[in-house]
Amino acid sequence: MYDIDKVRRDFPMLDNKKMQNKPLIFLDNASTTFKPQCVIDKMNEYYTEMTSNSHRGDYDLCYNIDVEVAKTRKEIAKFVNSEVNEVVFTSGDTEAINLVAYGYALDNLKKGDKILISITEHASNVLPWYRICQLTGAEVVFVELENKRITANSVKNAFNKYSNIKLAAFAHVGNVLGYEINAKEIASICHSHGALLLLDGAQSVPHMPIDFKDLDVDFLTFSAHKMCGPTGIGCLVGKYDLLQKMSTFHLGGGMNVKFNKDMELEVLDAPAKFEAGTLNLSAIMGFGEAVKYISNIGIENIHKHDQELFDYAISKLEKEDKIIIYNKDSRNGIISFNIKGVFAQDEATLLNSKGIAVRSGQHCAKMIDEVIGEPATVRMSTYLYTSKEEVDAFIDALINGGDILDAYFN
Ligand code: ALA
Repeated sequence: MYDIDKVRRDFPMLDNKKMQNKPLIFLDNASTTFKPQCVIDKMNEYYTEMTSNSHRGDYDLCYNIDVEVAKTRKEIAKFVNSEVNEVVFTSGDTEAINLVAYGYALDNLKKGDKILISITEHASNVLPWYRICQLTGAEVVFVELENKRITANSVKNAFNKYSNIKLAAFAHVGNVLGYEINAKEIASICHSHGALLLLDGAQSVPHMPIDFKDLDVDFLTFSAHKMCGPTGIGCLVGKYDLLQKMSTFHLGGGMNVKFNKDMELEVLDAPAKFEAGTLNLSAIMGFGEAVKYISNIGIENIHKHDQELFDYAISKLEKEDKIIIYNKDSRNGIISFNIKGVFAQDEATLLNSKGIAVRSGQHCAKMIDEVIGEPATVRMSTYLYTSKEEVDAFIDALINGGDILDAYFN
């Protein structure tokens, strides 16, 4: 295990320990995460020592930034066990899913085809598919959940129920209930029916070891900012032959070999063909540093830390009659709950008055109410720097926190 006190010292936001005028206990890590000083320094290095454009010049500065971009790509490939040229930079997980929607699904789906998703998905893994269906005449169908989960069996049933499913797209770990799907088995089921699987890794890649090759999923998407990296950068990891067959999404400089007056265009090989325009270079440098930082701590250690805090919090919270927990058995650093008779946003406001940051509502998964049976929940989520003392303070605030009116009038 790692030394959490040492880890915490790496994060300036924890040192400031303030949210406006209150102390800060940050339990909204499923939304975004703090950045260690090394990531901030690396991003500054671009602006203070390395400013130039990649792939566009014959001078040392350009060469140096090309090397940094290549280093980040290599770092990510090693982290998720893919080939280096299978890593495409995007602005984040959302753009990566949209890239598959517009670059793959738009060309390959037609009327009568189906895209399989679940009602637990985040908007970013629902709305691009709705749009593709509007454009192609294909249809989105929903897997039936088993005990709130997407299981291999439920996916098999979906293939038995619906013909012509061409693509399935699921979160590896749900952003509200934190359940992990068996991606390897589900990929194999999809492939046996001639369908591809996109795995949204937003909530899994930052928290647990991922082996892209072993899982054998076709596409994996994630964002840097949920794993100690900057906002505005993420990636699509895709099987190389699929990336090569996919259409480009953004067009412009940096992605083409040549074009002419007859409107003929020859594009570069993947991943460059998807990376039109000037890349978010400081963010790419920060992303690489974040992956290195997490790798040094050990992703297995981070996963274990999240699970230990989860078990600890659940063991205390489940003794409280007034607390309803919706995912007691998911063990992935996300706890969604309500206090009986208290609206989720009121509870989050009460916690905020004590300096505790959590998210409330539907968490961008606007069909999740059908699974939970409530219009909204409070969600707490941990990461590598979350301490047991912070979880204790959170539990104490839930149990003895007083009335919502205290939040407004104290
Ligand atoms: N996807 C982020 C969340 O679940 C924004 O909060």
